[in-house]
Amino acid sequence: MIRIIDLFAGPGGLGEGFSAFRDAKGNRAFRIAMSVEKEASAHATLTLRAFLRQFELDERPADYESYRRGEISKATLTGKWQKQFDVATEETLGKPTALGQDNVAIEERIKSLRKKYPDEPWVVIGGPPCQAYSLAGRSRNKGIVDYCPETDERNFLYREYLRILALAKPAVFVMENVRGILSAKVGGRHIFQDILRDLRQPAKAESVPGAENVEYQVYSLVTEGDDLKPEDYLIRAEDYEIPQRRHRVILIGVRKDISRKPGTLKKGNAKVSVKSVIGDLPALRSRVSRGGDSSNRWSNLISEQVQLLLNGADVIDSNLRVALSDNLSDLGSSLPVSASRYKKTERPEFTRMLPAELSTWLQGTSQTLDGHVARSHMGSDLARYFFAACFAESNEGKTPKAKDFPELLAPDHANWKSGKFADRFRVQSGIFPSTTITSHISKDGHYFIHPDPVQCRSLTVREAARLQTFPDDYHFEGNRTQQYVQVGNAVPPFLAYKIAKVVYDLLS
Ligand SMILES: C[S@@+](CC[C@H](N)C(=O)[O-])C[C@H]1O[C@@H](n2cnc3c(N)ncnc32)[C@H](O)[C@@H]1O
Repeated sequence: MIRIIDLFAGPGGLGEGFSAFRDAKGNRAFRIAMSVEKEASAHATLTLRAFLRQFELDERPADYESYRRGEISKATLTGKWQKQFDVATEETLGKPTALGQDNVAIEERIKSLRKKYPDEPWVVIGGPPCQAYSLAGRSRNKGIVDYCPETDERNFLYREYLRILALAKPAVFVMENVRGILSAKVGGRHIFQDILRDLRQPAKAESVPGAENVEYQVYSLVTEGDDLKPEDYLIRAEDYEIPQRRHRVILIGVRKDISRKPGTLKKGNAKVSVKSVIGDLPALRSRVSRGGDSSNRWSNLISEQVQLLLNGADVIDSNLRVALSDNLSDLGSSLPVSASRYKKTERPEFTRMLPAELSTWLQGTSQTLDGHVARSHMGSDLARYFFAACFAESNEGKTPKAKDFPELLAPDHANWKSGKFADRFRVQSGIFPSTTITSHISKDGHYFIHPDPVQCRSLTVREAARLQTFPDDYHFEGNRTQQYVQVGNAVPPFLAYKIAKVVYDLLS
């Protein structure tokens, strides 16, 4: 059994991929020994998943599904399955725990685990969050007078990661990070080469008292060879059957006494589209956020604006005109706003579009569908969403830029046409992989517009989770905003599963 330490674990996307991987005999090859996560809702998600993993797939308790459907409380669930919850809680350290603050507890746990399983290989997974050197973070930081990257603590959270490597001395580590670390500079110097150097000798880099100076070779999971450029470490998730253009740096470190090199990820045959992954979910309409929500008010708000548009002075391309009027006549059907807790519908025409392994993966073991609840949108945004989805439908999936929006729908924003807001609204076209699902989805849905115009809404938590390849039996704890954040933060579990195979092949 290979034991995992999951750091900065979030809702457990990376850990899920490793935990699900099975050897040729069908046994789980990896077991999470400890996960560290400081945010309470993500920690609750992790703990619930750790609970579920103690059951074989065909023995998962019906109570779990009842809990997801809101039929029983958490107290009832934990009360009935106390033993399994105790184990899960121990795995997630009993409470939300922060690297850098709760180091004593974390280090003691590592020591005791190493003592308990002295002969088993260890793998450390997870990456330190580095907003300061993410691209968005850098441009934000530029505006901060006195901003000093050298003293920005977030830049150095990875030092905590190094310390854990030095103490745990895993056979392998897998470190994920944003693309921005490839080009980020601190004190005028590119830090990526420094990070690689530190990862090769974590105990030396961090001068951890008593830690042996164990050395690592750091490899790319997508490019073979020794003399790699920073870009060679970038994984483009859409190349590996993930329905999302998520580009992340993932490094794999192998302890030097292990003489083998890891393999690379096998590319998929074709890109997986948004439609093939979410097209089978029940159609929903959005809600109107102010002035009272009803199906009639919702469709009237859209119809009034779109009719004005069709009859007005704006010049509209003929294909787009057809899409607008056709979809408008399909509106008004009274779609529900929520399909949560309902049994999944069967729409095999979409499922058949998926690679078989991904299809089974997403299905999971559950017929319950939670998190498929539409959000509310401002009345003024509804016609924009409708227009944007029609535009994509009639322009081979292209999302409209500010200049493509008719005057009538232009937001009341001085800079709307300046270029700065050119991508204020983005449709996740059905025919391509989506753009990156980020935690920004928790703030508003403008970048995550559903491709079906008649639903006129942004993606639900469940749709975002599908695009991140979380199986349908994955339950996210916390309120809806927290759920969106968790989903957006995660490593796609199906990608993690493929990484787990590379690690397994290396260590077995
Ligand atoms: C990018 S997410 C990790 C996603 C995770 N690897 C997955 O696949 O689901 C980073 C997580 O680190 C957590 N975090 C940030 N600082 C932390 C700290 N000092 N100690 C523990 N967790 C921390 C955040 O709350 C967030 O959930």
